[in-house]
Amino acid sequence: MSEAIDRNSFSTIKTSHGLDGNSDALKNYYAKWASNYDDDVENQKYIAPSIITDLSLLVTRSYLHKKPQQTTVLDAGCGTGLVGVNLKKRGFGRVDGFDLSSEMTDIAKSTEAYFALKGGVDLNRDQPNWFGRTYELLVCCGVLTLGHVAPTSLRRLANYLEPGGCMIVSTRNSYLADGSFAEVSAQLQAEGVLNELFCVPDAWYIEEEGAHYWIYQRCGAPKE
Ligand SMILES: C[S@@+](CC[C@H](N)C(=O)[O-])C[C@H]1O[C@@H](n2cnc3c(N)ncnc32)[C@H](O)[C@@H]1O
Repeated sequence: MSEAIDRNSFSTIKTSHGLDGNSDALKNYYAKWASNYDDDVENQKYIAPSIITDLSLLVTRSYLHKKPQQTTVLDAGCGTGLVGVNLKKRGFGRVDGFDLSSEMTDIAKSTEAYFALKGGVDLNRDQPNWFGRTYELLVCCGVLTLGHVAPTSLRRLANYLEPGGCMIVSTRNSYLADGSFAEVSAQLQAEGVLNELFCVPDAWYIEEEGAHYWIYQRCGAPKE
């Protein structure tokens, strides 16, 4: 029988970082954690969803030249919907979301912030485009983190973007330590898939440590 989840919010988050990107272990862990997730991350001053929302507004105006109401957004690894709720409050009209954990997307659904949602989507594997469409803006908050999703998933995320579409991705500082994210990022830029627009380095993320927020644009001319 699997063990019950720790009720100390710091160690609950820490334990999730030791799951080695193993999809079954992550699914089981989040299935048990889902109902307490929001309280635990709030206890640890997890502010990344609101920073990603602020950046989404900036990027939408500055690079997509659109109003939030007109912008299609994908929240990759949406969890319980913390980012979607923030985006909706700030005027974004259509936000779709997916996550590995159906228990997390069930909670996201209850927020009514999302248009379409899908559980069971694994960013560590090549899978079909679940929504059969691409997006002008993609946000990925708290997912490229230790023990979760590998840097190679950046290419899978890029495939969800329209040409000219923008992506905002957080990486915890400790996630960057082995340099493989930088390698994947450089490779995608050398191949002409993504262009890094800017980075907000070592910014506030959660009490334990900061994160970088990376802003990329999918190469190619935007649709008229
Ligand atoms: C720290 S939570 C972040 C959730 C949400 N974006 C937020 O900021 O609150 C990490 C999320 O990544 C999801 N996840 C873990 N491994 C994944 C994978 N291989 N593919 C897709 N999502 C994954 C988890 O289910 C969880 O919802």
